Amino acid sequence: MSKRRKIALIGAGNIGGALANLTCAKQLGDLVLYDIAPKENFAKGKALDLEQNTTIHGFDATVTGTANWADCAGADVIIVTAGIPRKPGQSRDDLIAINLPIIRDVADNAKKHCPDAFVIVISNPLDAMVYELKRRAGFPKERVVGMAGVLDSSRFQLFLARAAGVSVKDVRATVLGGHGDDMVPVLSATTINGVPVSQLLSADVIKGIIERTRKGGGEIVGLMGTSAYYAPASSAIAMAEAYLLDQKRLLPCAAYLTGEYGYQDLYVGVPVVIGAGGVERIVQLSLSTEEKAMLDKSVTSVRAIVDVVKKN
Ligand code: NAI
Repeated sequence: MSKRRKIALIGAGNIGGALANLTCAKQLGDLVLYDIAPKENFAKGKALDLEQNTTIHGFDATVTGTANWADCAGADVIIVTAGIPRKPGQSRDDLIAINLPIIRDVADNAKKHCPDAFVIVISNPLDAMVYELKRRAGFPKERVVGMAGVLDSSRFQLFLARAAGVSVKDVRATVLGGHGDDMVPVLSATTINGVPVSQLLSADVIKGIIERTRKGGGEIVGLMGTSAYYAPASSAIAMAEAYLLDQKRLLPCAAYLTGEYGYQDLYVGVPVVIGAGGVERIVQLSLSTEEKAMLDKSVTSVRAIVDVVKKN
């Protein structure tokens, strides 16, 4: 008989709560919702609310709220949202001073309590935080991945679907590069049910959509005063599900590169295959000259923020 899987959510805030709800609704396993000591009762309260909710879903899993890392021991998957989100006017990189020590604390505890977990990092600035978590915990690159591309692609897909007047189900798009304002929506890998978008939308409309996608996170911060959480949670759950259920999904994720696309020792958003082996494969797309130039620019920004991490 197979055991229920264990998922530890590190950070019980907005995304943590949305992740927890999806984990239960999708019946992925037993859940631990961890937060720091001052937020222990908040985590416990959210966990109790969610555990009561499982009776409505008819799902026999436990949901534990805690401020004790020992409760996360043996987790199969850890999803990290620990840290602060952006406020209006802030860039993701502005969060580094506060979030870097938090990620180091998470890395040390993950190494101690969950040495075999598949780790999905969401905290910003994403490409630097996922880099530091892998470096500090010393986990293999297959088991540490960053969530950004699925979310950025979802934004691109929505705007394309609305502009073309088609179902969101028929739009497939890929956004690569760093999780910043110079991310790279890849038009050569973007179709509406196999039809290149350029056949259905004008160049000007596509250009406007690319701009809106790049600023998609900031648009929501401007409206709500804090970051998005429903779509970020769904994006990370798609990645966790791919691992837990060995789905071999091809998803754009921040993966550790060792020469792919010409980059070394950096986390960059690229298409990867996620299955039971974690990041099983990095897929190398043949990019146009213009796309490669955009990717180079985005990677330069990622390298700059990783350099800050290395110096601190
Ligand atoms: P939130 O403020 O609602 O929740 C963050 C939680 O982390 C808080 O409850 C806080 O107490 C907790 N925390 C702080 N230090 C901790 C520690 N050492 N260990 C465990 N937990 C700790 O923030 P929200 O909206 O959930 O966002 C979380 C992060 O995700 C932010 O950095 C945000 O910028 C980022 N984000 C990333 C996205 C992406 O695409 N990668 C998209 C949206 C947000």
